[in-house]
Amino acid sequence: MSNSYYSIAIDGPSASGKSTIAKMVSKILNIEYIDTGAMYRAITYKVLKNNIDPLDEKAVIDLLKETEIDFINNSIYLDGVNVDKEIRDNIVSKNVSYIAMIKEVREKLVHLQQAMAKKKSVIMDGRDIGTVVLPHADYKFFLTASVEERAKRRFKELINRGEDVKFEDIVEELKTRDEIDSNREVGPLVRSKDAYLLDTSNKSIEDCVDFIVSIVNGGNEGVL
Ligand code: DC
Repeated sequence: MSNSYYSIAIDGPSASGKSTIAKMVSKILNIEYIDTGAMYRAITYKVLKNNIDPLDEKAVIDLLKETEIDFINNSIYLDGVNVDKEIRDNIVSKNVSYIAMIKEVREKLVHLQQAMAKKKSVIMDGRDIGTVVLPHADYKFFLTASVEERAKRRFKELINRGEDVKFEDIVEELKTRDEIDSNREVGPLVRSKDAYLLDTSNKSIEDCVDFIVSIVNGGNEGVL
């Protein structure tokens, strides 16, 4: 049954600018922003906190059964506790792809994400939004950027957080994550055929935001 809500799907690799851009678009259009990566990160954080090996699928699935994830006022809550900050630690980034490979984890989160999009208009970002979570999204975008550019962004973000990281390590971690995210069996990172492709490498955030907003507003469908 159709309703008056609409949805925007944003997919792309790590640090391609998805969340910054999606957040800004959500404010301009006054719709809800849902960061699905944060949900995979929250489970990963819980797994690590409980000293469970991310590769131990059975233990992860058992833990999943007693895990609640929710967004309240754009913050992520894990079992009722705000974990906005903890899920951005580099140890979580390094392990999240292993958790995101597990079929049962994806099933649970995809279900939650679909339920969220039924209740209001949303802009949702992730890896499988346009292909699996919201295949009928009204608007789809696939954001990319070179691995060097993405590593620069991630490096800056981590240094600003006070983490002691090396640029070369960040490049390698991003490559590993791209590889796992793109080649997993369930919900791999892949561009939906009907998604606009947007390379953010040499573009300002504002230009990318304007491009998305203008398409949603039914205006210019030109090349950025
Ligand atoms: O967008 P991000 O870097 O916060 O995402 C963290 C990880 O979660 C990333 O390695 C891939 C995974 N992910 C996913 O598999 N599916 C999504 N819809 C969102 C994120």
